[in-house]
Amino acid sequence: MNDIKTLLGGLSVAEFLDKYWQKEPLLIRQALPGFQCPITPEELAGLACEEDVESRLIMEQGGATPWQVEHGPFAEERFTNLPATHWTVLVQEINKHVPEFALLQDRFSFLPNWRLDDVMVSYAPEHGTVGPHADNYDVFLIQGAGRRRWQINRQEPSDDDLLPDLPLKIMKNFVVEEEWVLEPGDMLYLPPGVAHHGVSLNNDCITISVGYRAPTVGSIISGYCNDALNSFDVDAFYRDPDLKAQDAPGEIALDAREAFRELIRSIPMDDERIDRWFASFITDVRPGHYVPEPEEELRPKKFKDEFKRHGELWRSEYTRYAHYTDAAGVTRLYVAGEEYEMYGDGPKVARMLAGQRVFRYKELLPYLDDKDLLELLTDLYNLGALYFPED
Ligand code: SIN
Ligand code: CO
Repeated sequence: MNDIKTLLGGLSVAEFLDKYWQKEPLLIRQALPGFQCPITPEELAGLACEEDVESRLIMEQGGATPWQVEHGPFAEERFTNLPATHWTVLVQEINKHVPEFALLQDRFSFLPNWRLDDVMVSYAPEHGTVGPHADNYDVFLIQGAGRRRWQINRQEPSDDDLLPDLPLKIMKNFVVEEEWVLEPGDMLYLPPGVAHHGVSLNNDCITISVGYRAPTVGSIISGYCNDALNSFDVDAFYRDPDLKAQDAPGEIALDAREAFRELIRSIPMDDERIDRWFASFITDVRPGHYVPEPEEELRPKKFKDEFKRHGELWRSEYTRYAHYTDAAGVTRLYVAGEEYEMYGDGPKVARMLAGQRVFRYKELLPYLDDKDLLELLTDLYNLGALYFPED
């Protein structure tokens, strides 16, 4: 069976998308056969102590109050002073810090990259759990090490189902509908809204969450409208030099209503504008995030030499890439919200850049003689959107 069929428990991508994606939970035994967890509990705790790494410690018991949440970075001593059981440490966006987790995302390339959010890894000793809850996102929960019991309920919890006054959303009355014990290499797919409760069954439980985020309708509409403001003189005031006499001073007359309808309908809505805005929005660096830049800016010639010397170029996990070809046949590449029009061999390169994480020198060499493409790759390197592995 090929890798994807194994990952999906014998299903084809089309069957998975049709029956499960955004619809039904799916347990896949040995989705990743012989899986070697790329991180130990000690290394995970080490990461949680680093600046620039987003981490949390959740203690169901043993804290000042039940379900205590602490945010990293932690002092190393924090991990020597923890109870034996009932806690979890979680590191978000671990794909930024551990290359194996960046590459793990490639297993899921049957789903569009723009839907991908991040990889999160948790470690818990026995009884460790973040409590029964539901997420707004699709998630693939991979058992990395140890054993975890997952219980689910398809009924989405309402706000009344939550324990009050907690920093976490934890359900008061979680009713178990189905349960499984996951071993290393097993995977559980959960669509958004399915309540789940995972409890560590031993002292070396590591769970890897490959999470998919969709933008909210509010963020799409407000983001688009905000961008559309650029087409207007927003400081100009509404004017009515043709104002007609009216009987009822309290009425908004038809003439005025028509003027406002016209103004609202003049918001540019053409396909090209919507597509270009969305691609830029979805690849943009999120508020509160940043892209680390290389220590030294390179010029195209030096970039090519360095690429040859390293043999490999990697896509930064701090940036998002996407591309599409519009109705007029123009291919556009988007990186960290910036748009690049691609000509000549550009469409092939756009597809590679947005579809892969690692580029071998030999693979890109045929395109490095194209001045524009070499300049583009150099610019992306200088922005921090591409890097050489040892940097
Ligand atoms: C965990 O890894 O313990 C929590 C993952 C989740 O419930 O989404
Ligand atoms: Co969850």
